[in-house]
Amino acid sequence: MIRSVITGTGSALPRNCVSNVELAERIDTSDDWIVERTGIRQRYIAGEGETTSSLATDASRKALEAAGVAAEEIGLIILATATPDHTFPASATQVQHALGCGGGIAFDVQAVCSGFLYALATADSMLRTGMAKKALVIGSETFSRILDWEDRTTCVLFGDGAGAVVLEAQDVAEDGPGILATRLHAEGAHKDLLYVDGGPSTTGEVGKLRMKGREVFRHAVVNLAEVLNEVLDEVGMTGADIDWVVPHQANARILDATARKLGLPAEKVIVTVDRHANTSAASVPLALDVAVRDGRIKRGDMVMFEAMGGGFTWGASLARF
Ligand code: ACO
Repeated sequence: MIRSVITGTGSALPRNCVSNVELAERIDTSDDWIVERTGIRQRYIAGEGETTSSLATDASRKALEAAGVAAEEIGLIILATATPDHTFPASATQVQHALGCGGGIAFDVQAVCSGFLYALATADSMLRTGMAKKALVIGSETFSRILDWEDRTTCVLFGDGAGAVVLEAQDVAEDGPGILATRLHAEGAHKDLLYVDGGPSTTGEVGKLRMKGREVFRHAVVNLAEVLNEVLDEVGMTGADIDWVVPHQANARILDATARKLGLPAEKVIVTVDRHANTSAASVPLALDVAVRDGRIKRGDMVMFEAMGGGFTWGASLARF
């Protein structure tokens, strides 16, 4: 059967790392408050010349190298981002140009923190229907540029970065590798809990992120537990069959609460929120790359990806690595 298999991962972070202590010199906050409420200890902030597409390109080069795939072999690039370089063209086209693999398909997907899950599902469908053989699926964000640095309730939570995977259509056995099941959802009724107060068709300005954190937290735990169970039911598995969960890194408390609801031990959950903060669509592929490169996630492991974000949008995807 034809499945989409992750054959390489890569990630990239801006040069500038900002600790909670450094942030507390500029904003009325403290290392203790941030660590206790979120688990975040530092974040990377894009500087001059660092953009969503430049970080995405760096992450993609590493993923291509890890997969042993040449850029010219890539026929599809899907970039998940809520912070594109420009309103248009899609930042994916700029990544394509920088990698030197023009002519194939390239577009952006916008589902905020769930963007990578949406992009992965889209690429999986396109590969399995034969529209391309090899794809780059990327999550890349520069949320620092849409934060209100006067609003301590949001600006301490986010960071910049990118993660990428090479996804290849392969003819595999039933017990072989690849994406096994995905479930995606959206519910637009909750827009006002998490949104950006601008845009090309409203204010004409880019706008800043606004969030009612406590209510987002409540929805996140419920929605994530539900969608994880949907995916497990589809493949007839339980939490005990999962080797690793690679969750969207919003907040250590959301990660703990979700793992508890599924009956998963904390050691099975890949956590990078302490060093990267919330990098929106980049957080899942960034965390995946960290855990692949440090040797925790190995070939054959059953890996669950999950995310929830603005919209609301949420989803989960299960892959045999
Ligand atoms: N430093 C110090 N104090 C702060 C800060 C800060 N950075 N921010 C808020 N406070 C204060 C508030 O003013 C408030 O003070 P008060 O009691 O005197 O009024 C107090 O801390 C508590 O504020 P709450 O907002 O109620 O704090 P809460 O415990 O809910 O934690 C947080 C806030 C961390 C945002 C939490 O609600 C959360 O994690 N929510 C999930 C949202 C999230 O992660 N969203 C990411 C995007 S969506 C996604 O990725 C899933």
